Amino acid sequence: MIEYRNLRIALLGAGNVGSQVARLLLENGRELADRAGAGLELVGIAVRNPDAERAVDLPRELFTTDAQSLVVGADIVIELIGGLEPARTLILEALNSGADVITGNKALLATHGAELFEAAEQVGAQLYYEAAVAGAIPIIRPLRESLAGDNINRVMGIVNGTTNFILDRMTTLGESQEQALAVATDLGYAEADPTADIEGYDAAQKASILAGLAFHTIVPIESVYREGITGVTLEQVEAARRAGFAVKLLAICERISADGAPDGVSARVYPALIPSTHPLAAVHGGKNAVFIEAEAAGDLMFYGAGAGGTETASAVLGDLVSAARRHVIGGPGVGESHSADLTILPIDDIITRYNVRLDVLDKPGVLAAVATIFSEHGVSLETVEQAVEETDAATATLVIGTHRATEAALAATVSALADSDVVRSVTSVLRVEGS
Ligand code: HSE
Repeated sequence: MIEYRNLRIALLGAGNVGSQVARLLLENGRELADRAGAGLELVGIAVRNPDAERAVDLPRELFTTDAQSLVVGADIVIELIGGLEPARTLILEALNSGADVITGNKALLATHGAELFEAAEQVGAQLYYEAAVAGAIPIIRPLRESLAGDNINRVMGIVNGTTNFILDRMTTLGESQEQALAVATDLGYAEADPTADIEGYDAAQKASILAGLAFHTIVPIESVYREGITGVTLEQVEAARRAGFAVKLLAICERISADGAPDGVSARVYPALIPSTHPLAAVHGGKNAVFIEAEAAGDLMFYGAGAGGTETASAVLGDLVSAARRHVIGGPGVGESHSADLTILPIDDIITRYNVRLDVLDKPGVLAAVATIFSEHGVSLETVEQAVEETDAATATLVIGTHRATEAALAATVSALADSDVVRSVTSVLRVEGS
């Protein structure tokens, strides 16, 4: 049996993911050592309460409440405590004492990523974060390494399992959003407070990370436009299904450089219609998927579990083997590439297609008046249909699909429609992506 130099591994946090990382590391340590070329010795697990009940039985002697002492002297620190502090301070301490750091902390990276990457670069250490976006799905390494020689035009992801689960049940079972959320909570998909999921904050943090990697540009969380799914109704989901679309909460990172359009990057999260033939429409339940459009590689899709203790532990352990290999070879870490430093565009500048539903007066000349409002704002119509589910004899429901238009032009159109005498109400406005 080959004798390896031991690397000291410090684990911060023994929650859902942390306890599975510890279990797998203890169970498969020898095999991982053979793959890494170094022994991986778990020297301690920092927790708030060593006596807390855990899904996994771990050796009591590994627990400590002194995270700070554990970090100092470790070769590799795995941060899985989540939240901004003390995670940020502990990571900075670990990097400054020469350790490589692995984290799954999307909130921290979206908020303080630039500071942490800079700190790692200063000391020649490396920060790994495969688990921060889409759980088990390898997406950070493909963007950071495999596609580093290509130009990415667009990344479109279903990166929040809770909201995908809810929208999927609304679509396939006809449940209301409240009913579907209750099931998600019972099954442990949604947190007790599901705000970060259903309001899109979780997906926005992931969009910030993905956009930064895809476009070699720092994309701060404040520059990611965000809408959650709370406004999505069962009527919208059913109308979409009848029209051949699925409603999905999408994280979209896009390079915009077309003639006449502002040059830069857009990162945004909102519920949108995608054609039921698009690969992302086939992502059901709590699963995640990321669809990438690259100049040379063409279209790529990455699919799998976006959460779960064991599943996410797989991503963390992959980072651990990479970090250990780097220690064996020696030399400084490979920093993040922010070389492009592109402008981040506001939501008003993005260009997409829209699906607008209106209740209008059912009398001659109304269609022409509505069409005029769109044309006055430079929004070109692609399809106009009168929906069958008319509310009363004097009201008709129009469903209008637009050609590509700017968000600003569409917003002005919707406002003019709402003020028009022939329009009773604008009942739904959804963006159309992926077609
Ligand atoms: N709350 C997240 C989700 C967990 O529902 O996808 C993974 O980040």
